[in-house]
Amino acid sequence: MKIFFDTKSVKDCDVKVLLWGKGSRFNAEKWASFLNKEETEVLKQALSTDKDAAKKGHVLELWGKKTSLLVYGIDAPKDALQWQNLGASVAAKVQKKQKVAVLVEDVEQACNFALGAELGSYRFDKYFTKKKEEDLPQLEEFHLLCEKKIKEADYKDFAALANAVRYGRDLCNEPANALTPEIFAADIKRLTYLGLKVDVLDKKAMQKAGFNLALAVAQGSVNEPRIAVISWQGNKKDKEFSCGLVGKGVTFDSGGISLKPGAGMGDMKQDMTGAAVVVSVLKALALQKAPVNVVGVVGLVENMPSGSAIRPGDVVTSMSGQTVEILNTDAEGRLVLGDCLWYIQEKFGVKKIIDIATLTGATMRALGSEYAGIFSNDDGLCQALIKAGTLSGENLWRLPINEAYDKMINSDIADMKNLGGANAGGSTAACFLQRYIQPKVKWAHLDIAGVDKEEKGRPLTPKGATAFGIRLLNEYLKA
Ligand code: BES
Ligand code: MN
Ligand code: ZN
Repeated sequence: MKIFFDTKSVKDCDVKVLLWGKGSRFNAEKWASFLNKEETEVLKQALSTDKDAAKKGHVLELWGKKTSLLVYGIDAPKDALQWQNLGASVAAKVQKKQKVAVLVEDVEQACNFALGAELGSYRFDKYFTKKKEEDLPQLEEFHLLCEKKIKEADYKDFAALANAVRYGRDLCNEPANALTPEIFAADIKRLTYLGLKVDVLDKKAMQKAGFNLALAVAQGSVNEPRIAVISWQGNKKDKEFSCGLVGKGVTFDSGGISLKPGAGMGDMKQDMTGAAVVVSVLKALALQKAPVNVVGVVGLVENMPSGSAIRPGDVVTSMSGQTVEILNTDAEGRLVLGDCLWYIQEKFGVKKIIDIATLTGATMRALGSEYAGIFSNDDGLCQALIKAGTLSGENLWRLPINEAYDKMINSDIADMKNLGGANAGGSTAACFLQRYIQPKVKWAHLDIAGVDKEEKGRPLTPKGATAFGIRLLNEYLKA
């Protein structure tokens, strides 16, 4: 699908969409460039008889032989997110049509509407070989018609975000046999064409740097691990990175020797969503040439059971020097992140870090698919992220960390264990991560286990991978 901004009438449209609110009045003159005489007449008739036309959510459908008209009842959307949702709903409705035009009032509306359409019409259909053409989305041209001229440049940041989210979702939807750590890292490396700096550490380099926890998780798999370091320096005046991002990239989480039950295990191909989000956010910043300096570290590993796999009870010395008793090999995310968090602080001296991970089933059970959990040692950072979440429609709910939860991960034979008690699994996992945060560093941890996948499909997040966090972090980092 391609987005077009026009000021003049679009020829040969399959569908024309009008937005109709309480204050809307019939204005043939204003629509002269959008509707022909016949369409104007049909519309006038229909609007005069349909009393609900201006009701929010109401759709007046006038399906014609050549061109169809859709009138969307709107309650004058008040913010960007509502326009995005509307754009996504319209795109869903007309996905079997090829050429669609929507009449909008201004640049803000147009851009958010188009972004919504791009996010809402995302599909992952590369593996279908037998589907008929007509069963797949047909939408090719999405025109936004506005009296005022809208330039490509006006849409640049929106286009970047749409691109990044679609890229992130592609990564997450990809099956684990097609996205091993090695392949994932190679894909990230490709992003250097945008001016991003990408360094990939292979197994040997990881050993040298001391990624012992991450290596322990990876040691049961024939697919070797990778660490990717991606940085964007859009603010040339500053040498430092204002923020560090860390992402969990478990390309498949079988649980290892502490094997997961079979039902739903396939979902664990998406246990790399945190890494996909970090990479995609950096891609978005580069596409926008955003004037900020951000560095990301992602730990790419596969967690498998085998004769070489880590055992429950093994003790490993992390990069930080702290020892970890690995009591459950399925609590692998915190191991990978522990080393990545330490590395980003040592190597880049970042004083603010956000990590993002599909970390615990406990957080998923607490918050479902409505909110991701946020844990933080800094109220300001936490509030700013929650606000960015509200603005972008990726909602966060703060959950607690404190000394009592922290105590729960003390081990009998090492500095810590990778398991808490039976309850408060999200908080004890966060406390584990906090043990790898150095004094005075502001840190927030986003647990996206419940929101990385959409089961039913919503306007902006169709069924499948949501890549939750890209819009939120983009909003936060640019603010
Ligand atoms: N990747 C899982 C968490 C997860 C669960 C993500 C469901 C998405 C959906 C993580 O590695 C895991 O297995 N966590 C365990 C930890 C436990 C063994 C302490 C969990 O939450 O059950
Ligand atoms: Mn696990
Ligand atoms: Zn996992």
